[in-house]
Amino acid sequence: MRHAAAHLREGGPGMAEARQFDRSEENIGNVLNMEHINLTVPDQQVAALFYVTGLGFTRDPYIDFGTFNMWVNTGEQQFHLPKSTAQRWRGHIAVVVPSLEDLKRRFQFVAKPLADTQFAWEERDDHIAVTCPWGNDIRVYGPDRFPGRYLGIPYAETPIPAGTAAGIARFYERVFATSAVVLDDNAGCRAEVSMGFDQRLVYRETEDEIPEYDGHHIAIYVADFGAPHAYLAEHELVTEESDQHQYRFQAVVDPDTGDTITELEHEVRSLWHPMFKRNLVNRNPAQTFFNYREGRDAFYPG
Ligand SMILES: [Fe+2]
Repeated sequence: MRHAAAHLREGGPGMAEARQFDRSEENIGNVLNMEHINLTVPDQQVAALFYVTGLGFTRDPYIDFGTFNMWVNTGEQQFHLPKSTAQRWRGHIAVVVPSLEDLKRRFQFVAKPLADTQFAWEERDDHIAVTCPWGNDIRVYGPDRFPGRYLGIPYAETPIPAGTAAGIARFYERVFATSAVVLDDNAGCRAEVSMGFDQRLVYRETEDEIPEYDGHHIAIYVADFGAPHAYLAEHELVTEESDQHQYRFQAVVDPDTGDTITELEHEVRSLWHPMFKRNLVNRNPAQTFFNYREGRDAFYPG
């Protein structure tokens, strides 16, 4: 799912000598992938109806295939959905699907069995806004919105108190060596943190009351595994030494003051983690009993 940069396609013969390129534009920071978002759910059947039948994602066929947990693949990312009291992501999660028209057909199909839940959806300008059966705000985009991306989680956004975006950016730049920019425009003030070549974690300032943190988490893969850990350990922020390849922390702090700005558990994994670059199975959700075409079962970008 690597994107072919538009400027490379535009140049004709002889153009290469004349063009000036800003090579730093394509730099990637230390975080390579925000690989999964973990949200506990109280009912696996309802979760399957929503995430697999409705959104069209693929249940991981290999890991946690039972009734106590479900991993759902979406491109190079996953949702992890262990069974427990429902967790809610504060803010919203963006996902990309290959076709919004197909998505609407699938949503009509699951509307009845999900009628007793909070499931709802509405079309907006450039996406479909969805409420999951337990109230999570998920925004679904078609493949045109994020260059080169046909399936996956391009970004997730979470609220922070007004005046704290700069502190968030300092944390990710200094502790994780990944780029983080503070933007303040018509869309509001936010810190956009690079989670790899085409993913972002967005912290948006709000004056509204922010719901209490309920323990949902993200998993990230980092190239430099040791330096962030050294900082977090020194500041007593490590919450779990999971194993050789993984640790966790929860408090996102302003490194200038040491104050906690927000909480979001990060499962930090090294590139030696056995699941790094694991080949995630993705199906073509357009295949059905009624329109079946041989050889089209697997999802292929584009
Ligand atoms: Fe996890």
